[in-house]
Amino acid sequence: MKTLLSERIERSGPLTFHDFMAAALYDPRLGYYSGEIRPIGRNGDFFTSVSVGSLFGELLARRFFREWTEIGSPARWRIVECGGHDGSLARDVLDALERLDSRAIATLEYVIVDPLLEHQDTPSLTLPAFPHPVRFTRSLIEFASDPLPGIAFGNEVLDALPCHLVEWQAGTWVERRVALNPMGGLAFETCAIGDALLLQALIPLGGHFPDGYRTEVRTCYQSFLEPLVLCLKSGLMIWADYGFNRQDYYHPDRTAGTLRTYAKHRAGENPLDHPGETDITAHVDFTAVAEAAQALGGRPTAFCDQGTWLTATARDALLAQEGHPPSSHWRQFHTLTHPAHLGRCFHILELSWNPAAPTQNLRPLTL
Ligand SMILES: C[S@@+](CC[C@H](N)C(=O)[O-])C[C@H]1O[C@@H](n2cnc3c(N)ncnc32)[C@H](O)[C@@H]1O
Repeated sequence: MKTLLSERIERSGPLTFHDFMAAALYDPRLGYYSGEIRPIGRNGDFFTSVSVGSLFGELLARRFFREWTEIGSPARWRIVECGGHDGSLARDVLDALERLDSRAIATLEYVIVDPLLEHQDTPSLTLPAFPHPVRFTRSLIEFASDPLPGIAFGNEVLDALPCHLVEWQAGTWVERRVALNPMGGLAFETCAIGDALLLQALIPLGGHFPDGYRTEVRTCYQSFLEPLVLCLKSGLMIWADYGFNRQDYYHPDRTAGTLRTYAKHRAGENPLDHPGETDITAHVDFTAVAEAAQALGGRPTAFCDQGTWLTATARDALLAQEGHPPSSHWRQFHTLTHPAHLGRCFHILELSWNPAAPTQNLRPLTL
């Protein structure tokens, strides 16, 4: 991958970090997410809420089922899962929906969209057994001509979208891009910002940063959400990820940003070291995601930490457990919701395109 990137830079000049990250993660031949599906969890490079166990999917299914009933139990509805990876979360959601209501699952079209399917012409994907058909797709274009009421969601997808790197120097932002050093290795350099979208995205950050302040900015949230909006009618979106509202993200004390690499459960700081072999991720600016949704006619209806959201979603199931011996679900619930585990650093943003949808009062955080 390093050779491929070096040749590309030699041929066409330095790469924005956005283009570098897109290649390092999603290059069809050598990207981190190409080829064999990488395991997530103990045998992989990182854990997610999905690898904690089936409870995360079960609680999402409860929220989806509530939405289905609130919109009048339509005769056809659609769930679009973004970044469905190896299908584990889909299996957990569908198993739970099947237990919840036979009509809800019989009328459901479940779609997984993930760029790694790009490389799966003869899928090396070992899919779990689904209790209901799942459609895998590389593009949502075919669904836009038949929009259905329903839900789009994703866990740890937004943090995997390519970002730009910027640095505050002498009262202005410059872009950090990837060039070649005199020895031919990959190295960062800074340059003036030419990208109009990036310049626009930097305006709300203000201008009170210490010299050398480095951070990340994504300009792709609107283009990411738009195809999802087109294939849903008065839809709901649910995004679970690590991140902050804008004010916390771009706090002047966060001088080195949030960009990280992950390999074998070890976090690294330099994405140029092993492109294609490590995951690359940066936190999510949830305010920017909410604004992108607003530009597409939606509005945020809930934003809170994962612990709060899952506890509210699990309320009925928890009450039903009262008096029963503790099950393995309790351990999972603890990991997913405890502030010292995944409960506080992960957040959930709900976005709605349904004018009648109520705003939920889940100890809300400010966007
Ligand atoms: C960190 S993994 C999370 C996988 C799974 N959702 C989980 O929580 O275990 C990120 C996933 O997002 C996918 N992804 C990246 N960009 C995407 C996009 N534009 N649309 C849909 N999926 C995307 C990646 O291919 C990868 O499967």
